Amino acid sequence: NNDTINPFRNPESEFSVKARKGSSLVNLKRTQREQTQRAKDKTTVEGTKIGEALGLKDTEIKTDVVTNNRNLLKNGSSNVSYKEDIKATRQSLPCFRSRTDLLTMIRENQVSIIVGETGSGKTTQLPQYLYEDGFTANGKMVGVTQPRRVAAMSVAKRVAQEMNVKIKEEVGYSIRFEDYSSPKTRIKFMTDGILLREVLLDNDLDKYSCIIIDEAHERTLNTDVMLGILRVLLQRRKDLKLIITSATMNAAKFSKFFGNAPQFTIPGRTFPVEINYSKYPVSDYVEEAVKKAVNIHLTTSIESGDILIFMTGQEDVEATTESIQEKLLEVYRKKGEASTFDEINNIEIFPIYSSLAPELQSRIFHKLDKSKRKIVVATNIAETSLTIDGIRFVIDCGYSKLKVYNPRIGLDSLAITPISLANANQRSGRAGRTSSGVAYRLYTEETSETDMYGSTIPEIQRTNLSNTVLLLKSLGVENVMKFPFIDTPPMQTLLNSLYELWSIGALDNFGNLTKLGIDMTKLPLQPSLSKILLNSIKLGCSSEILIIVAMLSIPQIFKRPKEREKESDKARSRFFVAQSDHLTLLNVYLQWKSNHFSSQWCAKHFIQGKSLEKAEDIRKQLLRVMEKQKFSLTSAGSNWNIIRECICTGFSHQAAKLSGLKRYVHLRTGMHTQLHPTSALFGMGDLPSYIIYNELLMTSTEYLVCVTAVDPFWLMESGLLLYDIKKKDEINDYSIGLLGTNSKLNNNEVEMEDARKVVREKLD
Ligand code: CDP
Ligand code: MG
Repeated sequence: NNDTINPFRNPESEFSVKARKGSSLVNLKRTQREQTQRAKDKTTVEGTKIGEALGLKDTEIKTDVVTNNRNLLKNGSSNVSYKEDIKATRQSLPCFRSRTDLLTMIRENQVSIIVGETGSGKTTQLPQYLYEDGFTANGKMVGVTQPRRVAAMSVAKRVAQEMNVKIKEEVGYSIRFEDYSSPKTRIKFMTDGILLREVLLDNDLDKYSCIIIDEAHERTLNTDVMLGILRVLLQRRKDLKLIITSATMNAAKFSKFFGNAPQFTIPGRTFPVEINYSKYPVSDYVEEAVKKAVNIHLTTSIESGDILIFMTGQEDVEATTESIQEKLLEVYRKKGEASTFDEINNIEIFPIYSSLAPELQSRIFHKLDKSKRKIVVATNIAETSLTIDGIRFVIDCGYSKLKVYNPRIGLDSLAITPISLANANQRSGRAGRTSSGVAYRLYTEETSETDMYGSTIPEIQRTNLSNTVLLLKSLGVENVMKFPFIDTPPMQTLLNSLYELWSIGALDNFGNLTKLGIDMTKLPLQPSLSKILLNSIKLGCSSEILIIVAMLSIPQIFKRPKEREKESDKARSRFFVAQSDHLTLLNVYLQWKSNHFSSQWCAKHFIQGKSLEKAEDIRKQLLRVMEKQKFSLTSAGSNWNIIRECICTGFSHQAAKLSGLKRYVHLRTGMHTQLHPTSALFGMGDLPSYIIYNELLMTSTEYLVCVTAVDPFWLMESGLLLYDIKKKDEINDYSIGLLGTNSKLNNNEVEMEDARKVVREKLD
C-alpha cells in the first residue's frame, strides 16, 4: 500500500501507448481551428468590432434559451397544462414508484444508500421528495453534492424548473467562484469541494437537515474525504440524515463503511444492449468513432434512435463533431441534397464537455423533431451525471481523461487513460434506457481483459494530497494516517504531502497547523497561491498579488492565431515586463483597467477579452473573502521587486537554476527543463540565474510556464527548509543546492537548524 497505483494497468500495451499519444485527427483539427480563428480576426481588423463578433455568439446563446423555454411550455400556453406536463414527467420516472419506501427508509435510518440506474431520478427527484415531505420545514436545507461543476449547475436548473421557482430562491447551487444560493434556498446543489469548505466554517453543518452525496460511485477525492468527515460528524449530529446515491457499481462498499447502512435499489427498467468489440486494434479512436457514427446514420432509419459518442475531452469532442459534419456533408453533397451542413435536415450534432457554456449544454436535452436524429459527442460527463433520453447507439472510445499524480515531480496532470470495465458497462448501458440498443466498443475484447481494471482507481489513490491534508488538519484531525478513509491512500503520498506543507510553513515541526496554515485554509486557492496572497499583506503588495492570483486562475490570455503569429507575438511582447511573466500578467490587467476594461482594446492587442472578464470576476470574489477575513489590501506602488520577492515566498519549492541556453535545471529534482517560448524571459539576452515557475508543462520537452526571476537570497530565505547556500570563491557569488538529501520528517528539526545557521552566517 506504499505506492501510487498506476492508472495504466498495462503501461506498455498498444492500447496504453496510443492513449498517451492521443489522436492525430485532433492535431489536424487544432490547426484548422486556428485558421478559422485567423479568418475571424481578419474580419475584426477589416472594421467590425470584436465586441460584435462576440455579441453574435451571445445572441446565439440567448435565442437558444428562448427556444428552450418555449419547448418547455410547448403544450399549450396555460400554466396549468405546463404543471400537468411536469407532474406526468416526474411520475414516469422509476424513482417515483419507490417514493414512499424511500422516504420511510430515510426516516428510519440515519444513513441510507440508494442505488439506481442512471436516469431513474435520483438526482432530480430525491431532493424534491425530501422537500415535499417536510425535511426542510425546520428552515434547514437539503444539500446535494456533485463531483462536477456542470452537473451541479444543470440539475439545479432542472429542479428549479420542475418546482417552478427561480434559481437562487428555493433551489440554488454553489460552485467555486459562483454562488447562486440565498437564505431562501431549501435545496442546494453544490460541488463536493464546496461542501468541504463549508464544513471548515461550520463543523456541524448546522444549516442542513439532510446531505445527499450524489454520484458517490465516482469516488472523487472530495467525495471520499467528505464521507470520512461525515462518518465522524454523524455521531455529533444524530438528527442529520445522510443519503449516498450511486450508480450500480460499488454500492456495497458504502454500506459497509457506514456500519451496514441499508441499501435500496430502485427497480430499473433497462433493455438489453448488444455489445460489439472491434475485431482489430483501432489506429485512431477519433477517426474510427466518426466512421462508425456516419455509418450508423446512413444505414439505419432515423426512428431507430440517437447516437451517443464517448470521447475524452474538449479537443477530441470537437474534432469528432467537426469530422462527422464534414463526412456527412461530403455524402449529401454528392447526392446533391445539401451544399452546407445546415442544409442536411435529418441530423443535429451536439458536443458536450464541462467547460462548454451552460446555455449550450442544455441544448442536448431538447427533444428534436421526429424526422431528425441527434448525435451527442460527450466526455465521461454523460456516463452517469447527465441523462439524455432516446439514445439507442453508443460508441465508446475506451479512454477518458484522468487526473494522474506523477510522484517523480510531485505534480498532478490530466492524462488520457484506459477506462475501467465498470465504466465501459456504464457507457454501454446508456443505449438501453428506453429500448434495446447497440454499443460499439472501439477496442478489442482482449484489450478490455488485459488493459482495463475492473473499476477505476479512486482519485485518493492517485493524486497529490497536500490540499486534503491541510483541510483535515484544519478540521482538527491530528493524525491523518488514522483518518477513516474508505480506501486508504498510499502512505508515501501522505508523507510527501505532510512534508510539502511543512516546507511551505503551513505545518510546524510537530505536524500542527501554523498561523499561516490556518489562514491558508480560509482562501479557496491551492496552498502556494494562498501563501503568496497572505504574505503579500505583510509585504505591502496584496492588491497586486490579488490580480496576479486571479490572472493565474484562468486559461490562456494571449491569442496567437495561425499565420498571424508574428503580429500577435509582437503585440504580446509589448506587455512584457523583463524578468517576470507574473508581472507581465499584472501589466496586462492594469493596462486593460486603464482602458476601461474595454473588449475592443483586448481584440486590438490579441488578448482574450472573455478570459480577462473571468479574471476580474474571480478577483472581486477573492477580494470579498479577504475583506471578510479582515485581510488588508496594500499596494506596492512602483516597487515591483517586492512583488517578485513575494511570489518567491510561495514557490521556492518550484525553483530552477540556469544551466545553458534557455535551459534550467530543477533545484529539487535535478530535472532538465526549458523556458517556454511564450515567456517574457525567452527573448532576454542575459537570463537570470534563478527562477521560480508556476507550472511545469510535460510534453516531449519539459517546459517551465509562467516564470519569474528571483534573487537566490530570497529563495534561500523562503525556502530555508529546502535549500543550502554556498559561497563560491568569487565574492558575492552564491550557489544554491539542495539542503540535506532526505525528506524524512524526523530529520526536519536538524535540517531546519542547519538552514538557520547558514542564513545567519550569510547575514553576518
Ligand atoms: O440521477 P439519475 O441519474 O438517477 O436521474 P436524474 O438525473 O434525476 O434524471 C431524471 C430525468 O430527468 C431523466 O429523464 C433526465 O433526462 C431528466 N433531466 C433533464 O431533462 N434535464 C436535466 N438537466 C437533468 C435531468
Ligand atoms: Mg444523477
